[in-house]
Amino acid sequence: MVLIAKETIEQQANRLLEESIIYYNSSPVGAVAATDSEREALNYDQCFIRDFIPAALVFIIQGKTEIVYNFLIETVSLQKQKRRIDCYQPPTGLMPASFKVESQGDNQYLHADFGDKAIGRVTPIDSCLWWIILLRAYVKATKDESLAKSDSFQEALTFILEICLGPQFEMTPTLLVPDGACMIDRPMGLSGHPLEIQSLFYFALRAAREMLQKTTDGQVLIEKINNRLGSVVCHLRDYYWLDLKKLNQIHRYQVEQFGESVVNKFNIYPESIPYWLTEWMPDQGGYLAGNLGPGKMDFRFFALGNLVSIMGSLTTDQQSQNILTLIENRWSNLVSQMPMKLCYPAIEGLTWKIITGCDPKNTPWSYHNGGSWPVLLWMMMAACQKMGREDLADRAMTIAEIRLMSDEWPEYYDGKNGRLIGKSSRKFQTWTIAGWLLAKLLRENPHCLNYVCFEKDTEAIACTI
Ligand code: GLC
Repeated sequence: MVLIAKETIEQQANRLLEESIIYYNSSPVGAVAATDSEREALNYDQCFIRDFIPAALVFIIQGKTEIVYNFLIETVSLQKQKRRIDCYQPPTGLMPASFKVESQGDNQYLHADFGDKAIGRVTPIDSCLWWIILLRAYVKATKDESLAKSDSFQEALTFILEICLGPQFEMTPTLLVPDGACMIDRPMGLSGHPLEIQSLFYFALRAAREMLQKTTDGQVLIEKINNRLGSVVCHLRDYYWLDLKKLNQIHRYQVEQFGESVVNKFNIYPESIPYWLTEWMPDQGGYLAGNLGPGKMDFRFFALGNLVSIMGSLTTDQQSQNILTLIENRWSNLVSQMPMKLCYPAIEGLTWKIITGCDPKNTPWSYHNGGSWPVLLWMMMAACQKMGREDLADRAMTIAEIRLMSDEWPEYYDGKNGRLIGKSSRKFQTWTIAGWLLAKLLRENPHCLNYVCFEKDTEAIACTI
């Protein structure tokens, strides 16, 4: 009798990740979003830029840099493809949400989706920000600057920065975007200045500054970046921050204040504080709010934006510690049976109807609306390691490991405590697999943490409020 040794979770994750790779003219260029044979593929057979990030980081740490190199090169050429689809014209610089290898006769070509095919025609703004973040990680790990310094990569960076730093109908230093422009790519009240985009924007600006050539044009961009970083940091740290002290201030805000030096600059009415928050906010801990605009603060907790803010040092050390303390103090809501909630709490009833447009995929405590996403594990690990709170990340990993492999690596989980596999969840979702593997690799190789983190910024032009 031949005994076949059972695959360990790590062996399985590595095998599945290998099997998800997409080849273009026989070279590896990316990975499909999921390999679930039981559900219609839709666009899950494509390589999403944002989904590929954890996989690319795993490959980088494992020394398999060829696939990441190819991915970076091919996405630059996709960025330059100018196509018009009905009345849609992707602006120069925008990176696609996803791409696919197609064939015509014996020839292969890459076909990109800039949001012109995506459900709801959402604009994938996070793609170009994640792309810059990945490029920096590649440079840091390989110590090879030639790719980033090449003319075509400098041009790609410039295109992105021109969109981000160009004039907009907007006074605030944050980036103004339409709804669903990031990982949450369905209507969820994210139009305006959602935290996820702002935290990626901040990280990407810092990463771009490191890689820009110091030519005359490069210096002009660096100066613009330094100006913008200073104001973004000020704005987010002060106006987005929520803890018990701040909640008390908002609770007692004067309203309708006019002039330059008023306290309640955005005219937030105390009555808009949701009741759940007055009970939920712990004595210790705090977080960055989900969105901020005139007369409107989105008080929901969004995990990705808060974790990336810690990783990029967008928050002060004290705020970063406080975010992790909040996660610890509200563990049963935010982590519970599967790390971790993408957004807390879910929106329900009439609010759900109005904000999501009655989206049946985003019903309360499902998918983006209070569902739990294991891909967030790697960001949780990175943020915890950076702040010396490995104990929290280890707890989260233990919870995830109990179920991920036997549940066949779902895309997301449903329910207040994340016990149910998501209703429409794909299985064998690549970023679930890569997210877990990356968290494990970061834990074992702390010297790789600087690929995905920044220390405090000392170059930005300081701004005071
Ligand atoms: C869903 C997610 C999005 C992801 C895509 C592919 O649309 O919301 O963030 O990129 O699936 O996995």
